[in-house]
Amino acid sequence: MSVSAAPAALAQSAPKPIPHLVKKNGKAALMVDGAPYLMLGAQVNNSSNYPSQLPYVWPALKDIGANTVEVNVAWEQVEPVEGQYDFSFVDALVTQARENNVRVVLLWFGTWKNTSPHYAPDWVKLNNKRFPRMTKQDGTISYCLSPMEETTLEADKKAFAALMRHLKKIDGEQHTVIMVQVQNESGTYGSVRDYSPKAEKVFKGPVPEALLKKKGLKPAKGQNSWEQVFGKHADEYFHAWHIASYINGVAEAGRAEYDLPMYVNAAIREPLLDVGPESYSSGGPTHNVIDIYQAAAPKIDIIAPDIYKRDSKNYEAVLDLYSKYDNPLFVPETGSDTEFARYAFSVFGRGGIGFAPFGIDYTGYTNYPLGGKDISPEGLKPFSKVYALFGPAQREWAKLAFENQTWGVAEGDDRADQVVDLNGRWKATVSYGEWQFGFKNWTWLGDFEAVPGREKPNGGMVVAQLSEDEFLLLGLHARVTFDVGDKQKGKNVIYRSVEEGRFVDGKWVVDRIWNGDQTDYGLNLTDAPRILKVKLATY
Ligand code: DGJ
Repeated sequence: MSVSAAPAALAQSAPKPIPHLVKKNGKAALMVDGAPYLMLGAQVNNSSNYPSQLPYVWPALKDIGANTVEVNVAWEQVEPVEGQYDFSFVDALVTQARENNVRVVLLWFGTWKNTSPHYAPDWVKLNNKRFPRMTKQDGTISYCLSPMEETTLEADKKAFAALMRHLKKIDGEQHTVIMVQVQNESGTYGSVRDYSPKAEKVFKGPVPEALLKKKGLKPAKGQNSWEQVFGKHADEYFHAWHIASYINGVAEAGRAEYDLPMYVNAAIREPLLDVGPESYSSGGPTHNVIDIYQAAAPKIDIIAPDIYKRDSKNYEAVLDLYSKYDNPLFVPETGSDTEFARYAFSVFGRGGIGFAPFGIDYTGYTNYPLGGKDISPEGLKPFSKVYALFGPAQREWAKLAFENQTWGVAEGDDRADQVVDLNGRWKATVSYGEWQFGFKNWTWLGDFEAVPGREKPNGGMVVAQLSEDEFLLLGLHARVTFDVGDKQKGKNVIYRSVEEGRFVDGKWVVDRIWNGDQTDYGLNLTDAPRILKVKLATY
């Protein structure tokens, strides 16, 4: 054996590091096999969590071009009889995911699934005495399990810990499963909190120190009850604190067995309207309680929004809200309809670690009107195009998004131009609906056709800064025109070069240089997956 061969051989046999989340300078990366990972995800339908349905999952995953599948594992299926576990579905899922070359995010459907205990085993959901439901303010019973009950928490923790223990056994070396969602859209509809005698007692007690600290509050002695500290928000904050603490307990028990990154997902609150908790899932990880979740649930890495808002204003507002508080951006569920695909650019441009349309399998079910009604190779095209663009550069983009500055925009519903300020030195104007040549307003040519396939907005782009005057550009259905920014006012922009290329083993390989018609009318990105390295200069 030659001397130089030894380190390579050693490196090959070295165990791969466990997936984990890292944060630096307000950015986050999901590290998979030791490097930042970009999740081009897809979530299956709720009842696809059985071996019989997996044959309908993999073809859809392949058609959409996802590198990660999000699949639920239900408490009722792994512990149908108390203390007796059945992980055969998890085994089938992990084995087949490997065969299909995709990673897995497991979704734990336990005490809360869309707030209800439907996925809890019947020995839990039918035993109100042992596992009490919440009491509403009028004294009637809620459908929702109470987060104040130790017995329920202990039972959920035990099942989840068993799942994670099993996962470590079957996947502790290969890391096919890269992250776990703890519960699904927790919270409660129809009651802002639990009003049981037990809850009432705690509600009259002091706000926990950790929460006061997080909020920067120092109430006077005797003035520290929930109502005294939080006034009209007290009921909701109380509920959020207790659900988050409960989830933290479950996550902690699981991570003690196998320490994968964990997150929670939210049935979102209206991002642009001032609405009360009566109108959404109170106590769930809505944007107004992100800090409460962070304080109560340190074992949760990410608080993630499920976004089914179709319109761009609301969508972008949700992304902004969930990017606050140093919370890594991740969209674990979004609509599967055409207009949602472009929002991947907004997510990845903001440094988001992943994005996943919901209901991606060929079981024949669609969740229209929340998502799309055509889950077929054709219907998935808007997403598969975006994934085909990012796929070959996924690791490079994830690294850039973590280490460099990046921007991203999705075409707005108004379909208007957008100007992206690239650090003041440069700016990019993004326009939509242009052909690759000329301008929409060239009326001297008479009427010409509109660009086809643009009935719904589908454009967008991301830009990463590589050096002061150099950018990487990926996009679809958009024209990107670079110009000098305010800091270089008065100067004229010129392309030093526009390289079209690809990454091979992490190295940039140039296929050709764009010039002439290909740059005279901005850089025109169609539905072909093209990556450009743009070097700018002034004269
Ligand atoms: C959001 C939930 O988290 C999913 O499990 C699913 O119920 C979708 N809504 C709607 O189909």
